[in-house]
Amino acid sequence: MSRSADLARLIRQRAGPEAVSHGLILGSGLGHIADEVDGVAIDYVDLPGFPHAGVSGHNPRLAVGMLEGVRVAVFGGRAHYYESGRADAMRLPLEVLRSLGAERLIVTNAAGSLRPATPPGSLMLLSDHINFSGLNPLIGEASDARFVPMTDAHDPAMRAALRAAASAEGLDLVEGVYAWYSGPSFETPAEIRAIRTLGADAVGMSTVPEVILARFLGLRLAAVSVITNMAAGMSDEKISHEHTKAMAPLGAAKLERVLRRYLRDLV
Ligand code: HPA
Repeated sequence: MSRSADLARLIRQRAGPEAVSHGLILGSGLGHIADEVDGVAIDYVDLPGFPHAGVSGHNPRLAVGMLEGVRVAVFGGRAHYYESGRADAMRLPLEVLRSLGAERLIVTNAAGSLRPATPPGSLMLLSDHINFSGLNPLIGEASDARFVPMTDAHDPAMRAALRAAASAEGLDLVEGVYAWYSGPSFETPAEIRAIRTLGADAVGMSTVPEVILARFLGLRLAAVSVITNMAAGMSDEKISHEHTKAMAPLGAAKLERVLRRYLRDLV
């Protein structure tokens, strides 16, 4: 048995045998949604091989149960490349998600905005991304499955459903391109000018490796950024992780409404 199948069995023993429909990965300052799942929460430390996910503002637990009538597995925290130097840090959790039966994934994150008209507190649905880090979680994967097509990686039908959910809630949901910067230092203003020229609308230190891994595993996905700040050089506000955590709740309440509506409208 593979490690992910073993972990899925352990999770099913605790959370029940029903297949999971959706996975949800929660970004910085957004982890509380995991507490609202009607089911079982398992600390990552009790799931052998799960990453440490030690960034403050995260809630490193896997909650499996019902949210708005849909069986979900919610990852309250993620592991970032910059914690371990491993771009594939989220591979095992995503393999476990697949073993639990999930076919769809929603990834969330906190991000800086490169668009003056999209201020802190906004939600941005990712239409596509730029892997500005040059890293890849599939380096070392030996099978031909590593040659993953990335066209429409951000699933058009799921994006349409999320746009419809936001609209039904009366909330703005802009769409844009997310650039992955490895972190953990923030970008320089020159780097932000560069990626703006290259077509990025938001910048952050996560999500892209998860998108690549999810497509590798055959999961359909969509990703939503909560904008917590204007990117470096774009405003006088000082950028810091404290600021990210402080600003995340502004968008988190909106994000939760969109996610709940999206799930409710599935059933
Ligand atoms: N840059 C990178 N990651 C981030 C930012 C940012 O400006 N804001 C929140 N996460």
